[in-house]
Amino acid sequence: MNALMNTKSEALLTGYRSPPLAGVIEVPGDKSISHRALILGGLARGETRITALLEGDDVLHTADAVRAFGADVERTGAGEWRVRGAEWQNPAGPVDCGNSGTGARLLMGAAAGFPLTATFTGDQSLSSRPMERVLAPLRDMGARTNGSTLPVTIEGGSLHGISFVNEKASAQVKSAILLAGLRASGNVEVIEPARSRDHTENMLRSFGCDVECAGGTVRLGKRRALSGTEVRVPGDPSSAAFPIVAALTVPGSRVTVRNVMVNPLRTGLLATLREMGADLRTDNERVEGGEPIADLVVAASNLNGIEVPASRAPSMIDEYPILAVASAFASGRTVMHGLAELRVKESNRLEAVIDGLRACGVDAHEEDDSLIVEGTGRPAAGGAVVSARNDHRIAMSFLVMGLASERPVSVDNGGMIATSFPGFVQLMSSLGATIS
Ligand code: S3P
Repeated sequence: MNALMNTKSEALLTGYRSPPLAGVIEVPGDKSISHRALILGGLARGETRITALLEGDDVLHTADAVRAFGADVERTGAGEWRVRGAEWQNPAGPVDCGNSGTGARLLMGAAAGFPLTATFTGDQSLSSRPMERVLAPLRDMGARTNGSTLPVTIEGGSLHGISFVNEKASAQVKSAILLAGLRASGNVEVIEPARSRDHTENMLRSFGCDVECAGGTVRLGKRRALSGTEVRVPGDPSSAAFPIVAALTVPGSRVTVRNVMVNPLRTGLLATLREMGADLRTDNERVEGGEPIADLVVAASNLNGIEVPASRAPSMIDEYPILAVASAFASGRTVMHGLAELRVKESNRLEAVIDGLRACGVDAHEEDDSLIVEGTGRPAAGGAVVSARNDHRIAMSFLVMGLASERPVSVDNGGMIATSFPGFVQLMSSLGATIS
């Protein structure tokens, strides 16, 4: 195990009603970009230097995996990593992806391009998540696979092209196909009826690969060799979501989150919160390393319930648990459509959110694939111990809920927070939040 990894203590954590939150913070690096930086670096000729890498457990598992396939992966300082790519080879043992669906699915795609055999494993949650969505297209490209949930074994090499329709708008599936396609013969394209996050396309280009994007189709060009480059990882909007909703719901708060990536395929939550009446300003917008970055300035606001269309789901898929918490404090009903995918995340997030909200005295239910939360415009009752279901985002969402509820809200296990947001409790405490 990587020495930087959290030991995952079964820590009960509690969020208490807090005074106004105030301050200027930065959140850790974006998880999606961090995984991709290590994997693309591991595939590239020459050296890749990464700064501000998210050193959460998910990404550290990917670093170990890329090393196991033969690349040289070295931590040179806090958040600073150097990767020298290689021809990937049989790993010495199973490749442990921990809790990370992104790590597992992208690594499977990348590995399938090489003539190697690898078995992928993960923790209990990851071992119950569907992998066929990635394995089926990889088989169509010529890979041999065994298993549909982890452990999965892949025998790769001699792949051919594919034209794949990405019905689920999954960036993980799209990315796995593009990474496998780097070493496939022929046309490799993914057609997206609804666009998913485009970090793989953007980063492949900065590593020197030709990628064409037109009319919802992403296609690899002729030049598919990668050359090492520099990657500076911007702040993760999915992590920024927690201090933002905390600042909106704790009366009198005013918080700035600096250097957050505001790629339009990731900012569905910001648009939704603004529609709900949030005082949320984007400042100092600029482009760094090919991604738009901004400082987000947010003040406590009276929110109103709204209807969130299914079309918004791809751009805020990881943010529904914290949006559901914001909705509990809004006046009126919030209806969020198109959430089937939430059932197959790190936990069944639809169920986890409804159970947690109800335990805190909030009326919430699901109807088909929609989540309905009845906000009262007042603080929630709280006073519950919520099951985090070993899911980092469920844990953080309900700790934020406790900050603005009448009585404290505990989560049974905060240990998993380190998968995506190491230092969450300290950072929130620096704003004045009471979490212990
Ligand atoms: C991710 C894509 C999304 C998201 C996940 C990260 C990525 O998953 O939920 O946290 O980095 O590509 P899906 O591709 O399953 O939608």
